[in-house]
Amino acid sequence: MAFLEVNPARKGAKINRNIYGHFSEHLGRCIYNGLFVGENSPIPNVNGMRKDVVEALRQIRVPVLRWPGGCFADEYHWKDGIGPKEGRKRMVNTHWGGVVEDNSFGTHEFMELCRQIGCEPYVNGNVGSGTVQEMSEWVEYMTFDGVSPMAELRKQNGREEPWKLTYFGVGNENWGCGGNMRPEYYADLFRRYATYVRNYGDNKVFKIACGPNVDDYEWTDKVMEIAGKYADAISLHYYTRPRSLAWDDKGPATGFEEKEYWTTLRNALWMNELVENHLSIMRRHDPEGRVGLIVDEWGTWYDVEPGTNPGFLYQQNTMRDALVAAITLNIFNRHADGVIMANLAQIVNVLQSVILTEGEKMLLTPTYHVFDLYKEHQDATLLDSYVESHPVGDDQVQLSSLHQSASMDAEGRVHITVANLSLSGEETLTVRVPGKENAKASVRVLSGSMDAHNTFEAPETVKPVSVTDFRQENGVLTVRVPACSVTAITLE
Ligand code: AHR
Repeated sequence: MAFLEVNPARKGAKINRNIYGHFSEHLGRCIYNGLFVGENSPIPNVNGMRKDVVEALRQIRVPVLRWPGGCFADEYHWKDGIGPKEGRKRMVNTHWGGVVEDNSFGTHEFMELCRQIGCEPYVNGNVGSGTVQEMSEWVEYMTFDGVSPMAELRKQNGREEPWKLTYFGVGNENWGCGGNMRPEYYADLFRRYATYVRNYGDNKVFKIACGPNVDDYEWTDKVMEIAGKYADAISLHYYTRPRSLAWDDKGPATGFEEKEYWTTLRNALWMNELVENHLSIMRRHDPEGRVGLIVDEWGTWYDVEPGTNPGFLYQQNTMRDALVAAITLNIFNRHADGVIMANLAQIVNVLQSVILTEGEKMLLTPTYHVFDLYKEHQDATLLDSYVESHPVGDDQVQLSSLHQSASMDAEGRVHITVANLSLSGEETLTVRVPGKENAKASVRVLSGSMDAHNTFEAPETVKPVSVTDFRQENGVLTVRVPACSVTAITLE
């Protein structure tokens, strides 16, 4: 027996819907085959975008999509990806898998994809190997509605109207694949590049600076000190790995041992500390909190599936991943006053994807279902909540069994999401929400063994179910929360 209490009188910040954002890179089968198959494909598509994938993404209300990388962003020259397809440069994707990149998916295709999904584009510019002029012209090409060489070029390529583009990243991982820079050097470059990222007409660009790798607090400190006043946000990258932070010590996505379940969840919970520490450094430089924190790469990173290209980062996705997603999204919700966007890496077929594809087949991963269970938090107001927990784990790792967040939407409905990390203990949870004693309740649960996953042969092994065996008595909702599960409760 455990209790969960929500206090609707103690309201927090509005949960920015962009916390539920995603990331797509020219990496493996994320863009090509995953999202985009081209107009001539036998796989049903609209203007080259897979119909099944787009429809599934609309269902979870993807708010924002980041592109074209990742490390690819700092090698990407956008003019290679515009104009008639037959004339587009063919080249090798040196960073990811050494395969041919034919540039058939470029700026126009990305904007079309966002239109179909119904999400905002987040474009990441090239600082590492690109010029200031190139970055400046890309923004002009996408957003200028007047007489200019780039607006003219866009029109020649079939797009009369400019697009609306808010989110623009000035470089990616410039401490690593984006140029191996020192924070002082990058911060100066940010000031220079960002100067020429212009606002045209009423399009106001929200400029995102490359932030730290994991717990590199010095990076955050220096970039905020030197460039903070020119940036609207700074990005953090943190991947959850099952064992340690060593890249050669990851472990498999399925068939893992119980001890790796616990270390993975412990590592996922570290996000809380990372977010708080980076935010507190940011606030030292920006006491008003004008600059937001964006976690634009997060998720699990395992060994690739046996027999697949190591540069494609293709991995399966189990209930363990669902728990990582649930914990992480609860953490972001609970820091809604500082975390203004997050982007799961990556949307299809790469790392902790929400969708996997194989030819014309598609499946929804356990992580997809968590995004579905959590979507009502988008743009809702964070509410203070508390859950009673008991220790779970093994002789090495001890964690709290339950992890939660709660919000109230514009219609006054309360949404509670709870992860039960325990592998053996079903929990009987009593939920008390003052003012919602007689509310109509609905409960959806995603559960399974830690290794449970969907395959192309059995794509619905893990999926949420609506449960009705809860009780409502004396203003208290009593609900069974299975071991290794994620539960979404709505009180109307
Ligand atoms: O998401 C895969 C890679 O991880 C990205 O390209 C890079 O930014 C990060 O290191």
